[in-house]
Amino acid sequence: MAVREDRVQALGRELLAATAGQRPGLFDKAWWSGQILEWAMRDPAFKTEMFRFVDVFPALGDADDIGRHLQEYLLRPGLSVPTPIKLALKGAGLSRLTLKVAASQISKNLEGMARGFIAGVDAPDAVGVLRGLRAQGQAFTVDLLGEATVGEGEAAAFTLRYLSLLEGLAEEARSWPDAPRLDQDDRGPLPRVNISVKVSALAPLLDPLGMESGVQRALARLLPLARRARALGAFVNLDLEQYALKDLTLGLFRRLAEHPDMAGYPHLGVVIQAYLRDAEHDLDAIIAWAKKRGVPITVRLVKGAYWDQETLQARQEGWPSPVYAHKAETDACFERCVVKLMANQRWVRPAIGSHNLRSLAVAMAAAEHHKVPINGFEIQSLYGMAEPVKAACVAKGVRVRVYAPVGDLLPGMAYLVRRLLENTSNQGWLRLGYAEQAPPEVLFAVPT
Ligand code: 2OP
Repeated sequence: MAVREDRVQALGRELLAATAGQRPGLFDKAWWSGQILEWAMRDPAFKTEMFRFVDVFPALGDADDIGRHLQEYLLRPGLSVPTPIKLALKGAGLSRLTLKVAASQISKNLEGMARGFIAGVDAPDAVGVLRGLRAQGQAFTVDLLGEATVGEGEAAAFTLRYLSLLEGLAEEARSWPDAPRLDQDDRGPLPRVNISVKVSALAPLLDPLGMESGVQRALARLLPLARRARALGAFVNLDLEQYALKDLTLGLFRRLAEHPDMAGYPHLGVVIQAYLRDAEHDLDAIIAWAKKRGVPITVRLVKGAYWDQETLQARQEGWPSPVYAHKAETDACFERCVVKLMANQRWVRPAIGSHNLRSLAVAMAAAEHHKVPINGFEIQSLYGMAEPVKAACVAKGVRVRVYAPVGDLLPGMAYLVRRLLENTSNQGWLRLGYAEQAPPEVLFAVPT
């Protein structure tokens, strides 16, 4: 590997020192979320039941319904539950009324927890948060919560909401004070307004087998959005979701970027998920394609948020899993992809999405090695998570962009579950670094 390990270790320790004594708010035990997460980390049985409950929550009707599910999932004999839930459920099961009270209390807490990951319910609500991020030296990308739409009407309405989000943010952004570190990179100006779009929300029931028709349908929705973004000078990123939609999304991205209306537009981005066995192959293909297009695009490199789902589905169907079985394999793949990105920074703008300080140190070391200037790449991070990590990167002079979901709790529940899984994964860096405060030898170990 072209990056010196001693440099990675030194940068990693520098970043860690900058975060010393801070803890992400989410792990704060004074809050409901902190206590629930701590319990989930200690007790896998509770974690399973709690997340099952969060998962079905949007589909539940009234308090009675919620109460029944609470009882079914969390009041099982032999399952111990954390104090805040115990208190809420005290006496539940004895009377319908107490169960109803418990249900409404737990719903409220769940909403509070979700709000910690959501920048606002709509654009006007989120604007204050986005402005606040910029004041802390952080750029943003906004994602409208919603995925896997099931009807054409719903998908069309979703596209309209994105259009109005774009208009609203563009209007706001005009009056924002200049932030050269956020609004410029080594090539020139960068859009202040940046949106991330999930393809499954634009086109209902995408069938990965009917690839061409899926791409056509999604492109018909995406193109007006991208045209408007271009006219307003905004950035459009296509998110990656489940593996089943990966090839379709990458194909759609190319089709969009090659469309005559998007010719020469550099402010488009796509994602590579390092937990996929296909990641390096796909990244090579994107780089080769970007060279041919001749206009840079952004590649956001992430580890991937659907690991549990992909692993379970492959097991159930008896398919070979598309994701690496071990976290260390994903981390190692991420590092190889980081190096590829930095080595090809002329054609692709690297956006490094991780909360793992070792992964970020590798990115910084690879940038140094390949003579990528400090503003020639960015680090991306999720809203409501890993605040100390963001602050340490800002202090290092790297552009940090926060992925900020906007929308209601219910369509956001799947998003919340992914964040909870991430934060409590016993292989996750945040848990190791902040909940367990592992020593540097562990936190910065070469992934093997
Ligand atoms: C997700 O929705 C952040 O795009 C990622 O889980």
